[in-house]
Amino acid sequence: MQALTPQTAQWWQTGVIYQVYPRSFQDSNGDGVGDLDGITQRLPYLVELGIDVVWLSPFYTSPMADFGYDVADYTDVDPIFGDLAAFDRLVAAAHGLGLKLVVDFVPNHSSDQHAWFKESRASRDNPKRDWYVWRDPAPNGGPPNNWLSVFGGPAWTLDETTGQYYLHSFLKEQPDVNWRNPELRAAMLGAMQFWLERGVDGFRFDVAHYIMKDPDFRDNPVRERMEGFVFKDMGDYDSLVHLYSKAHPDVHDVYREVRALLDRYSTPDNPRFAVGEIHEFDWALWAKYYGEQNDELHMPFNFALLGRPWHAGIFRGIVDSLEAAVPPGAWPNYVISNHDEHRVVTRYGYDGARAAMLILLTLRGTPTMYYGDEIGMQNTEIPPELEQDPWGLRVPGLGLGRDPERTPMQWDDSPNAGFAPEGVTTWLPVNADKTTINVASQMDDPRSMLSLTRRLLSLRRKMPALSIGDYRPLDSVPADCFAFERTFGDQRVLVAVNFAEHEQIVHLADAATCEVLASTMMDREGQVDLDAVSLRPFEGIVIQV
Ligand code: NOJ
Repeated sequence: MQALTPQTAQWWQTGVIYQVYPRSFQDSNGDGVGDLDGITQRLPYLVELGIDVVWLSPFYTSPMADFGYDVADYTDVDPIFGDLAAFDRLVAAAHGLGLKLVVDFVPNHSSDQHAWFKESRASRDNPKRDWYVWRDPAPNGGPPNNWLSVFGGPAWTLDETTGQYYLHSFLKEQPDVNWRNPELRAAMLGAMQFWLERGVDGFRFDVAHYIMKDPDFRDNPVRERMEGFVFKDMGDYDSLVHLYSKAHPDVHDVYREVRALLDRYSTPDNPRFAVGEIHEFDWALWAKYYGEQNDELHMPFNFALLGRPWHAGIFRGIVDSLEAAVPPGAWPNYVISNHDEHRVVTRYGYDGARAAMLILLTLRGTPTMYYGDEIGMQNTEIPPELEQDPWGLRVPGLGLGRDPERTPMQWDDSPNAGFAPEGVTTWLPVNADKTTINVASQMDDPRSMLSLTRRLLSLRRKMPALSIGDYRPLDSVPADCFAFERTFGDQRVLVAVNFAEHEQIVHLADAATCEVLASTMMDREGQVDLDAVSLRPFEGIVIQV
């Protein structure tokens, strides 16, 4: 397989993806909720930061039962975020600044307020009946099978009018569409085309693996015990193995068709891109989403670093196994946080978050970061009366609520952190730590997390070894240290991270004096001897060899 070169690598391979959660990035009209014009205003900041690709979580018309992941119109903008003209301004501004724009697409379910579902539920013989998944009750009148909703309770709701149940893998307000119906399929592809024609550079497919289920609707097997890696405790949902309710192999036909559509809209200068949200921890099954001929998703998101403890061996194990799992010609990627997971600072602490950022931005594979990661935003404690996330509200007590990681971006230390004008009640509270954790104060501080992130992003952009070079782990370091080499041509970079709470002297190579390109502490430059590099607790370092 031909190795990538700066000339052959595509933007989604060399670029760094930054996820914007539109409700929380910038409120431009003082209603306490972020919007598209707000994002447009902040694009120059992202350029200065060194980001290449902006991924927008849903901004489509929605009753917001799941904050936009319940789409009532796939081809329009919710008024809370603006309108199509605001979207066009955003695309034009992003492209004018050299940024790519990737939008979320929610293929598995719509809102129950979507016109398609309203028609579908109107009668059993409605032409759109089969656009959703309807089944007769079980003989006892209960749900057709034992499938469960991720957000708690059965995955089926009885529609009294027509006497059948409809499937919803998430909220009952999010009915699953039926991808086995050719008309629905064409309508979904048509919606994708709508956005491609408006200039989007690609899609992030929400729960991409859910869209095809067992055609016989068999009961899911009961789970005897949790085995292997447990991503998070999901309560009753964990009582079954979700074998039949998602990821039926027919899913791959759909992504081949989606890829063909993207390819039709691609030119050599402007390849369009698809990344899928795939929660699949068996690497072999995960890798299938690239397609046997690399003809499905450009990347299935790799979530393996989420939900794992801070442990050098675990990190290295994940990277090495990913490197082995990625099919020939396919491209790896890493995600360290998103709108569904606790923030990195909350998981690993401030120093750990800096080290995690350094690892993310120096590994082989496209990095995806989440707004606020660059300044070290942490989870915000949400008082019970302000809780909004339906998951946390429906399945309480397990820490599943996602409000804490969705609070407003902290731009400065003003009362609403520069996210919204003073005096406005923001949709979720601003974290009180905005007085110290904010863009403005970190911008001019050469040791801040923001300065570290900028340094790493600029190194990655400058050095092909870091973006597209080969990866090789180093065995010479102690167990609580993770070190690796990245090489491209004669460019060679070493990365070493001390996961321990104590200082360690690590041997990276035979004695040679080399230049430090970055340390997570941002207080260290000059030369080190590779024979014995001293690393402070949680310190990570990038060295040019
Ligand atoms: C995954 C999304 O990331 C999450 O936020 C959403 O609630 C579910 N899919 C349902 O769409």
